[in-house]
Amino acid sequence: MPNIVFVNEGKTIEAVAGSNLRKVAGKNNIQLYSGLDVLLNCRGNGLCGTCRIEVVDGKGVSPMKPIEEGSMMSWFPWMVRSVPKNHRLACQSELTNDCQIKTHPQYSIDKEATKERMQMFGIWTVLGGIFTAMLGLMALDIVKLM
Ligand code: FES
Repeated sequence: MPNIVFVNEGKTIEAVAGSNLRKVAGKNNIQLYSGLDVLLNCRGNGLCGTCRIEVVDGKGVSPMKPIEEGSMMSWFPWMVRSVPKNHRLACQSELTNDCQIKTHPQYSIDKEATKERMQMFGIWTVLGGIFTAMLGLMALDIVKLM
């Protein structure tokens, strides 16, 4: 059975290959979440990005799933986090071999991607406002004709 070393906690845990890292951490009282995320996480569905871990040497866990990168980058229009290749979502990672895990890894904001996303958000907000105003004017015309 592979060993998982939780570096920050100083714990080594033996787990069955194929085990989900979020479940292994939970069973061994290793907290993956910080602050309000303890309560406001997606319960392992790969949507919130709050169970981010760092696989120290990048080995010993299953390959990244498509949903992971999006969740780690953030779904919000005002921020895009950078995603180093060895960062993973614990809830989407299965143990394949011995590995070292750091909980609560530091991440940085990807300024270029954030700027692009905010520009697109601004454009869509303006277009949505114009469309809504046009619908409102059309509705007023219809009311006037009645
Ligand atoms: S618990 Fe939400 S992404 Fe893992």
